[in-house]
Amino acid sequence: MTNIAVLVSGRGSNLQAIIDSIEEGDLRARISVVISDARDAYALLRAKKHGIEAVFVDPEKYSSKELYEKEVLKTLEKHNAELILLAGYMRILGKTLLSAYKNRILNIHPALLPAFPGLHAQKQAFEQGVKVAGCTVHFVDEKLDGGPIIMQSCVEVKEDDTDKSLADSILEQEHKIYPEAVKLFVENRLSIEGRKVKILHS
Ligand code: GRF
Repeated sequence: MTNIAVLVSGRGSNLQAIIDSIEEGDLRARISVVISDARDAYALLRAKKHGIEAVFVDPEKYSSKELYEKEVLKTLEKHNAELILLAGYMRILGKTLLSAYKNRILNIHPALLPAFPGLHAQKQAFEQGVKVAGCTVHFVDEKLDGGPIIMQSCVEVKEDDTDKSLADSILEQEHKIYPEAVKLFVENRLSIEGRKVKILHS
């Protein structure tokens, strides 16, 4: 069974969706550790509630991204993590983690990439006046929110939506597609061909 590490910084609703999917028996994997860069991240409590090891690695203690990531890497290795999921992790990954886990890091982004990368993607989309918004699960590489796309889901933007209500509808879709994409990964059904990710049929 694949050992997963989830990197978080905040409320952890996507972490919860992954935990639920495992507990319901849909996703045959195990979360061996949750790592946060924020001491008070609610995600850490969610992990503990489900008996999952939850670790805060304090970025303030390290003088560079490289040293910080070396510590994160130690924790990942200690827990035999084979796949990293970024779930609301607010740091841009550096070379240390990217090269140690090449093609084994996934992220969920609350927009239909390549539109609206970066922060506050739902608000960016809402203010742009798009008619369709959504979310994307993708492999992580050195380009911010730029790696090959695994799965997307869209939502219609309604006349009476606010940026908040739109973010809520997108989040609902995030909770569906993240576990689905992870399932494809752990079943070894994703093949990266350049920019494209092919889904192999079982
Ligand atoms: C989600 O909207 C995700 O797409 C983005 O950060 C947010 C994290 O939310 N990367 P949560 O911590 O999973 O609730």
